[in-house]
Amino acid sequence: MGREFQYDIMEEIKKRWSPRAFSEEKVNKDDLYAIFEAARFAPSCFNEQPWKYIIAEDEKDLSVMRKFMFDGNRIWADKAQVLALVISNNTFWNGKKNRWNQFDAGTSWGYLSLEAQRRGLITHAMGGFDRKKVRKELNISDKYDIIAMIAIGKMGNKENLPKDIKEREKPGLRAPLNKSLINLNYFKDK
Ligand SMILES: Cc1cc2nc3c(=O)[nH]c(=O)nc-3n(C[C@H](O)[C@H](O)[C@H](O)COP(=O)(O)O)c2cc1C
Repeated sequence: MGREFQYDIMEEIKKRWSPRAFSEEKVNKDDLYAIFEAARFAPSCFNEQPWKYIIAEDEKDLSVMRKFMFDGNRIWADKAQVLALVISNNTFWNGKKNRWNQFDAGTSWGYLSLEAQRRGLITHAMGGFDRKKVRKELNISDKYDIIAMIAIGKMGNKENLPKDIKEREKPGLRAPLNKSLINLNYFKDK
């Protein structure tokens, strides 16, 4: 387990991680909309583009969005100057279930996070929020899966974080490549 790179890959992937030390500095609009532009160009099944990003970028909207997060996230994510909720259409244009919608929304957020990295922004995805409350209060139909919340902003000072969070304020580690890459023969020979 570690953060060493076994192959030379693009800088944005190498440098991206999920900080919790957000600054209260506002995000430049060009940078903000450019990261959603990156998200828009993700591939998707039948080019359905099932993702939607509901964004809060002014104080009024941020205070609504913050209330959906669980306390363990609010403690650091309340400072983020942009919060985006990722929802995804689970039904194709022909009415059939789109079983790839979350896969595609995940790809889209991945693009967003890398463009953000390139532009000097930080992003942190969260599953820790109240989905039921979101559905009810924002009146989101069952046609959409409610997937994740994303904190977006500028890097702040980690000294301002509570002690336990400060200690965890570093890039996440990864299992070695051979843990996720399995040769087909492994399954065929079983
Ligand atoms: C779908 C998803 C949900 C996550 N939920 C949370 C969360 O609720 N709170 C949190 O602090 N981090 C959350 N994370 C961040 C992960 O813990 C983090 O990406 C992982 O530990 C890898 O670390 P890295 O992004 O720094 O490489 C989430 C990440 C993803 C992709």
